[in-house]
Amino acid sequence: MAIRNIVKQGDDVLRKICRTQMTFDEKLAQTLDDMAETMYKAEGVGLAAPQVGLLRRFCVVDVGDGLIELINPVIVEQSGSQKGSEGCLSVPGKFEEVERPMYVTVKAQDRNGNNITISAEGFKAKAFCHEIDHLNGILFIDRI
Ligand code: NI
Repeated sequence: MAIRNIVKQGDDVLRKICRTQMTFDEKLAQTLDDMAETMYKAEGVGLAAPQVGLLRRFCVVDVGDGLIELINPVIVEQSGSQKGSEGCLSVPGKFEEVERPMYVTVKAQDRNGNNITISAEGFKAKAFCHEIDHLNGILFIDRI
């Protein structure tokens, strides 16, 4: 595993629509391992592929109850709302109030290409929304 460089706000790679991940191979596994290590080292709760310079639709999340890898994630249901402070490893030192759904259900694939469905609420729902936004070139500061 290796620590990857985290791209910061101002880099165009954070503003692009990411492409669907079509291959589920050793390279993807290695990238996901690196992203998790990078996220933990930076003490973040999520990291999306564009934040390590890759225009691909996947991200890692760990809000404290275990690592979740989402490949090609799509929010298929959402309800409620929450408002709370949010930050981003690509926007260091900035924390702002952002409104997010309280509950989300996400369909995605795991690193082997298997379909998965994950429901989340509260902080984890917020993290999923934040990371999936990254895959569409959206930063939390756009939602202030
Ligand atoms: Ni972020």
